[in-house]
Parts: sequence; structure tokens; C-alpha cells
Amino acid sequence: TFRPNRVTVFGAGYIGLVTGACLAELGHDVVVRDIDPAKVEALQAGEVPIYEPGLGDMIARNKERLRFTLDLGEALAQAEVAYVCVDTPPSASGDADLSRVWSVVRSLAGAEGLRAVVMKSTVPIGTGARARALLDEVGLAGAGYVSNPEFTAEGRAVRDFMGPDRIVIGTDGDETAAALVAGLHAGIDAPVVTMDVRSAETVKLASNALLATRISYANEMANLCDRTGADVTKVLAAVGMDHRLGPYFLNAGIGWGGSCFPKDVEALRQIASNSGFHPMLLSAVIDVNNIQRRRPLQGLKDALGDLAGREVVLLGMAFKPGTDDMREAPSTVLASRLLAEGARVRCWDPLARPGDVEPWASAVRYASVEEALEGADAAVVVTEWPQLAGVDWAAVAELMRRPVVFDGRNLLEPARMREWGFTYMSIGRP
Ligand code: UDX
Repeated sequence: TFRPNRVTVFGAGYIGLVTGACLAELGHDVVVRDIDPAKVEALQAGEVPIYEPGLGDMIARNKERLRFTLDLGEALAQAEVAYVCVDTPPSASGDADLSRVWSVVRSLAGAEGLRAVVMKSTVPIGTGARARALLDEVGLAGAGYVSNPEFTAEGRAVRDFMGPDRIVIGTDGDETAAALVAGLHAGIDAPVVTMDVRSAETVKLASNALLATRISYANEMANLCDRTGADVTKVLAAVGMDHRLGPYFLNAGIGWGGSCFPKDVEALRQIASNSGFHPMLLSAVIDVNNIQRRRPLQGLKDALGDLAGREVVLLGMAFKPGTDDMREAPSTVLASRLLAEGARVRCWDPLARPGDVEPWASAVRYASVEEALEGADAAVVVTEWPQLAGVDWAAVAELMRRPVVFDGRNLLEPARMREWGFTYMSIGRP
């Protein structure tokens, strides 16, 4: 029989909101606490500050069981289980900055009914042991510590939480807390994998690093195909049909970005280096990506010569379709390189917020792709928004001053684009 638990989620960011909403959906009584008054106020007023399909509806239909607060006292009074969902951005050294994590753990002192602390934030290997010691120090020896990494991808976070491939639970002897946390997921049909805390902390990083490795591999194969005349999309489609490999994360493009891959692969490399060995593969995976993100620049120079004074349109600013997130997006690298070369940059994106784009001065959100492309010297497909495949490119060829397109996502059809008069370049396709 189902027994709801009282849960406090610390951090109303991306992961915290998804976690809080989904736990409420599962029937638990949830308080989400954040230290940002504006954010809490917006959430209390029913506004959802991030774009994530299904999240707004889920928050709305669970408002009986889901509250937002600024008040630490209220958060602690509620906390039978405390989820740590704060961000751990890279610090100057490349190591994750854990200051927000420590501040949450410290603030738990005085939570009298606390039975379990769940680490959802992505943290370096060994953080759990330090958190355990800190909990003991602040008088919470009775609360178990559990590592429960998340594997949600943006744009499908709600689906990933409610239907994950696995639920990883890490514990170093706090079995009761581990069982409690596993039990919170009752209603979700997924294997629960239990292991020690260090291993659980490693799974998240190892999993993201392998996904990023596959993409860097795809990009390396694409660069090879560019020289041999083979078509990387055909090659990797067939490679991925090997059941030992599978078809996912083999799309060549202008590299991986986002809030997780760059941070997590770098963190894992850093952890390896700090522990005294040089992780050659991880370093290569990162190098390939850094080079890949600049691929369009050379293509544009080949087509246009000097880029100074050229009007270049970046089609897609978000790091992938279906999100407004521009963290570590290839578009940001391209925009700043193009500006440094003296080009004028225009940007189009259906979701990215103008405020995020504005640092690049001339960057504007255009009403339509066609409007953005009018009179331009070149366009780069940076994000594979489906809208871009639906554009009337034959008409666009007439609108542009020079019909030059670098398709960084292999979204368009090379033969057709050339038929319509484009100088068309893509990644690893003849
Ligand atoms: C990722 C992981 O998928 C998720 O499990 C983890 O919890 C967080 O990191 P996310 O960052 O939302 O999720 O994006 P994802 O869809 O995985 O894409 C990551 C990047 O790889 C994007 O920049 C995307 O454009 C790129 N990518 C992905 C490719 O270049 N080729 C591919 O075949 C797949």
C-alpha cells in the first residue's frame, strides 16, 4: 500500500523543479525551497521559469501536494527526505564548485524529522563521504545519506524521470534511508540498481562521458569521410545496426554542448588528473569537440574569403532543439569567433531568450527564418530545429545576397540545395 512521504527539494532549478513536480505526481507531499525570492514568487504565482514540456501542467495539477518557499524553517519542518538539487558549476580550476551543495547540507541542521538526504546534483566522486561527515558534524547522524544521480535530458526530463532506464541508489551502509528513497519511486517501472556511494557518483559522469565519446567518434568519422568521399550518415546508420552498439548518439554535427556533457566530461578528466593519471581518451573526446565547434568557420572562409563585414546568420542558438538553453551551445562559440573576425552576426531561434543572445550586439531574434536570411552573405545551421527543414530554401536562395549555407547538423538535402543554387557544405557528406 502506498504511503506518501514528506519531501523537501532544495533548489528550484531545472533538476529541482522536475524532481519536485514528479515526486508530487507520484503522490508525495513536496516543498521546493529556493533562496531566490523572485523565482519563488514566480513559482507561487503559477509561473514556470524554465521551458520543459509537460512540467507546467504537472506542477499545476499537483498544487495540493507541491508548494514553493523561501522560508528555511518551513523547508526543514517538512523534510523527512531532503533532496539536494543545486547546481555545481565548474570553478576556475575545472573542478566542480560545491559551495551551493555545502550550504544546503549545512542548512539542514535542525531538521528534526529528517531521515534521508538525497544527492541529486552531479558531484565529484568522494563528495558523499564529505557530506556524510558534515551531516554528522551538524547533529544529523540519524539521517541516512543516499546518492541518486539523475539521467534526465532536457526537453524530455519529465518523461525521463517518470520512465527511466534505471534508478541508481548509492549508499554506504545507510540501508534504511536507501530503502526509503527507493520506495519514493513506487509507481515507476524501472530497475533499481543499488551500489556504494562512490560508484553511484561515478555512474552519472561515466555515462555522460560515453555518450559524448560516441558523438566525438561520429564527428571524427565525419571528418574522415570529408576526405575520403564517403557519407558518414550512411556509414554510421549501418554501424549502429550492430546490436552491440545501437543507433543512438552517432549523429555527426558541430559538437556537443549543453549544461551536462561539457561540464561532466571535463569534471571526469579533472578527477582522473587529480588522482594522478592522464585520461587520454577523455582528453581526445574534448579536443575533438573543441575543434568540431569551429568547423563552420573554415567552410565560410573557403566560400567567402575574408569574413570582415560579412552578414552571417546563425540558425538556432539553443544547444539542441526543443529547449531554450544556450549553456555551452556551439552557437556561442561561433558567434564570438565570427564577431572577432569582423563579421556581422544575426541570430534566429524560436525559443532562446533575446536576453541570452544580446551579448552579441547585432544579434536579434527575427520573426521568421526568411526575414533573418534576407540580404545575408551566409547562413549556418547550428541547431537542427525541425522548422528549418520546412523552410522554402529555393525562395531563400533568392533572398540571400550570397546563397552560402553551412549545415552543421546535416539537416538539409545536399543535392536539392545545390540544385537551388546554394554553395552548400555539411558534415561528412559528399
Ligand atoms: C544529456 C544526457 O543525455 C542526459 O542523460 C544527462 O542527464 C544530461 O546530459 P542533454 O544535455 O539534455 O542531456 O542533451 P542531449 O540530448 O543528450 O544532447 C547533448 C548534446 O549532444 C547536444 O549538444 C546535442 O546536439 C549533441 N548530440 C547528441 C550530437 O551532436 N549528436 C548526437 O547524435 C546526439
